[in-house]
Order: sequence, then C-alpha cells, then structure tokens
Amino acid sequence: MSASVNVFESTSVGAALAEPPPHPWDDAAQGWNHHTTAIRTWLHDATAAMLDAAQLTPGARVLDIAAGAGDQTLDIAQRIGPGGAVLATDISPRILALAQARLRAAGITCAATRAADAQALDLAGANFDAAVCRLGLMFCTSPLQALQGIHAALRPGGRFSALVFSQPQANPCLVILARTAQRHAGLPDRNPYEPGSLMSLGQPGVMPRLLHQTGFTDIAVQPMAAPFVLPSVQHYIDFVRSSASPVMQMLKALPAAAQAAAWDEMRAQLQVFSTPQGWAGPNELLICSATAGINEPPSPT
Ligand SMILES: C[S@@+](CC[C@H](N)C(=O)[O-])C[C@H]1O[C@@H](n2cnc3c(N)ncnc32)[C@H](O)[C@@H]1O
Repeated sequence: MSASVNVFESTSVGAALAEPPPHPWDDAAQGWNHHTTAIRTWLHDATAAMLDAAQLTPGARVLDIAAGAGDQTLDIAQRIGPGGAVLATDISPRILALAQARLRAAGITCAATRAADAQALDLAGANFDAAVCRLGLMFCTSPLQALQGIHAALRPGGRFSALVFSQPQANPCLVILARTAQRHAGLPDRNPYEPGSLMSLGQPGVMPRLLHQTGFTDIAVQPMAAPFVLPSVQHYIDFVRSSASPVMQMLKALPAAAQAAAWDEMRAQLQVFSTPQGWAGPNELLICSATAGINEPPSPT
C-alpha cells in the first residue's frame, strides 16, 4: 500500500491559520455559527444517515469538505475517537476559524483545519478512509472537478457521502428565497439548476452520473425529508439573512430600504408554512454515497 501523505502535520486545531483570500461565505460565517443549534436540530437525522453511509470506524482518517463552523466535524470526531484523524476544509477562512474554535473548545485533539476550495483540494494520495461533505458540494461550479479531487484523496475502497439539496418542487422555501431575492435585486430569473447554486445538484440523475463519471462504485442517491422546524417564520428569516450566503449576496448591494422590502416579501410568502405549533419549512435533501474505485475513472460518455 502506498504511504499516506501527512496532511495533519501543520494544521492542528491549536495552530494559527494561514491567511487565505477572503470569500463571500465569510459574510455568513458568524450567522451560520450563531445558528449552529438550530442547524444541528434541522440536520440531525440527515447527518446521522450521512455519517452512517461513510462507514466511519474508530481510528479512521476522515476528510470533511466545506466543513463550515465544524458542527458535523464534531460528530465525525466522536465516531472515530482520539485514535482517528479528521481534516476539516472550507473555502472561507473566517468560518474555518470558527470551526477551529469550536473543535478546540470541545477538547478535540484528532482534528485539523485547512482552508481549501473543494475544487482544488490538492490532497491526491492522502489515503483518507472516508470523505464527507454536508451541504457544500452544490456550491461548486465544477462539482465533477471537486469529486475528482475527493476521489484522489481517498484510499481505494474509501467511502464518500454527502448531503445536497434536491429539486425545486421539494424545496419551496429555497425557491421563494431565490426568486424573491432575484426580483428585488433586478436579476433575471435563474435556472434553479444553475451550477454553483443551492439546488444545482438536485436534478434527478445528476449526482449518480457525476459519481460514476468520477470512478466511484456502489453509488446510492436517496431523497430524505428534512423540514426546518422553528418557533416562527421570523426565526427562519433571521437565519437566512445572516447565514444564507447566496441570498445575502444577491441583496447585499441594495439600499437598506430595498433590502428590507425583499425580506418583508419573503416573510409574507413563507408564512404559508406556519402551523399552530410554530413554523415548519419543507426541505428535501439527497443523501449521496459511494465507494472510491480502484481503477482509473471511466472516460466521460
Ligand atoms: C451551507 S454551509 C455548510 C457548512 C457545514 N458543512 C454545515 O453543514 O454546517 C456551506 C459551506 O460551504 C462552503 N463552501 C462554499 N463553496 C465552497 C467551495 N468551493 N469549496 C469549499 N467550501 C465551500 C462555505 O464556506 C460554507 O462553509
């Protein structure tokens, strides 16, 4: 077996991060981190399913891509134990610093962080046992390139699992947010499957095709309901306006009053999901999993 590249050498959770360039997701870093408890509850079952699919075992070496504020990194660390190792990567240096702080505060000693675009991981030959990506892959304008880098970072037989949003029909809140923000920002209506957008990988058949094209085997892609249950629609708006980078970026350049009008309209439309018990926004995710192949990937058809 080839020796693993030591990717954990210079990036323990106690180490200072190098200074990579800022990224639009930096603006959402504090908000996403602040809402960790709500996000954790929202994604609880889906995260457990994703980590089950990654077949994490004590002592495993795991790559966490687009790790955000590190919530699922903690779950990974718990599953692999102190004898394992997890490398949390993200394109936003600011959110990664929050992940680093979360891991350090939790006393996790088996984790490291590294700022990296998922499309340029540069981890070929690292021989990870597993790689996971919770709600990050769809932001890649070239998901195939990202998957190729992930495949190259895994040992043959290593597992990959990811959560991405499914199609617009099953994600009405995302449709309302995107359409309303686009209209208020004076942008044309966009294809909901536009590369790099929230539901870009939700079109039926796309994830299985990309995984196959990359050279993965044992491919499974299943929809999973993940309603976002909150006390009120206002709680959801508060979450979106501080944590949902794609929506925030569309409205960022507008004057304050125009932004307020957009949020008001979103709130009014999303009110339809209010219930006597609170607010429950439907969401559907795809849980995608596969095994890294041993042979060269098949050429694209
Ligand atoms: C919706 S958040 C998910 C964060 C975390 N995985 C979670 O579930 O809590 C999306 C994350 O993807 C990261 N991201 C966006 N584009 C990326 C890219 N091209 N490469 C790596 N990370 C990216 C963002 O910085 C952000 O932290």
